[in-house]
Amino acid sequence: MKKYIVANLKMNKNFDQFENYLENLNLKKNNNEIIICPSNIFLEKIYKRDLPISIGAQDVDHRVEGAATGSTSAAQIKNICDYTLVGHSERRETFSENNFMIGEKLLRCWENSITPILCVGENLEIRKSGIKNVENHLYSQITQSLNDNSKFEKLIIAYEPIWAIGTGLSASIKEVSEVSEMLKNKLLEISNIEISILYGGSVNLSNYKELLAVSSISGLLIGSASLDPKVFSEISNNS
Ligand code: PGA
Repeated sequence: MKKYIVANLKMNKNFDQFENYLENLNLKKNNNEIIICPSNIFLEKIYKRDLPISIGAQDVDHRVEGAATGSTSAAQIKNICDYTLVGHSERRETFSENNFMIGEKLLRCWENSITPILCVGENLEIRKSGIKNVENHLYSQITQSLNDNSKFEKLIIAYEPIWAIGTGLSASIKEVSEVSEMLKNKLLEISNIEISILYGGSVNLSNYKELLAVSSISGLLIGSASLDPKVFSEISNNS
């Protein structure tokens, strides 16, 4: 089955470093969907290269256009991006994005034929308080940003426990299986279709294979390890 391997480069690399990154990618064309999400400033640069990848943004604004200094709309990236991350925990935390605003972002994506990768995940406090609370938290993130008008056929979910992001401490296989199974069933209940679920949080060369082997996981969202073009190429080529 096709896997999604997504690089979230976050706010990393200057112009020269990004050029160097592109030079050192060594991606083989395979059945997987390799998606690279650089900073917006590099979207056109990567688009002009002939790489066997799809391009994603890291975020879009929740509004259509207008007085939103510093923001980028879905309509502005639609000619370059097939995908965008939406609701990454770093945006939820730093920019106080709530589920309702994220719901609007999803609508802007669908209006512009972009597939959103909706990120959900619990913090350590919720994780420590038990699996039922994790479940409730994830369900409310999903149900408050999706509704009957959502284009479920053009939606990907990324499960990213906040405590696993950038910490070097990935969720265990058992935790990933448990949550992805739970999410899959919930999404099936509300949409009637099987939605792809990705895992993100300290994915690296030593754990990507076992994470991909989890039956309800359709791919990986990779931060730190995607910053090294050789590592990202190796993961992408062997997934
Ligand atoms: P990480 O980041 O791989 O560095 O944990 C993942 C993410 O934030 O998407």
